[in-house]
Amino acid sequence: MKVLVLGGPNLNLLGKREPEVYGSDSLADIESFIEESFKDKGFSMQWHQSNSESDLIDLIHEAEEKGFQAIVINPAGLTHTSVSLHDALKAFPGKKVEVHLSNTYKREEFRKVKITSGASDGVIEGFGKNSYALAFTYLLQLS
Ligand code: DQA
Repeated sequence: MKVLVLGGPNLNLLGKREPEVYGSDSLADIESFIEESFKDKGFSMQWHQSNSESDLIDLIHEAEEKGFQAIVINPAGLTHTSVSLHDALKAFPGKKVEVHLSNTYKREEFRKVKITSGASDGVIEGFGKNSYALAFTYLLQLS
């Protein structure tokens, strides 16, 4: 299965940014952990992080044509604000899993508003880098 893994704003700072909330792994560390955990399981992955909402929307628009069958996305702060990202995800016909490192329900009230989440098949949050591993475990059941 060909999977596009998207990361939203500020995830480039993982490892340095609020490590007590997000852990000490960088995004590259999380990518290596997932690649290693799921190697030989038939996945081909492409990881992209962008601080720009429009870049993420363009990548989602191109995903079907590029042969991606699934998207795993951590929209980061855009989760709570972006109708446009929600709508782009709705237009992608493949499998979609939204992930979050932190359990946003234990945090500020504004993080309980989830605009993008209803566009995905399901949401996994609060398990650090294992949120990504659980998303790939779900996709593995389907492939
Ligand atoms: C996050 C949670 C969001 O509320 C926050 O804005 C992020 C990261 C997470 O992975 O826990 O940037 O998506």
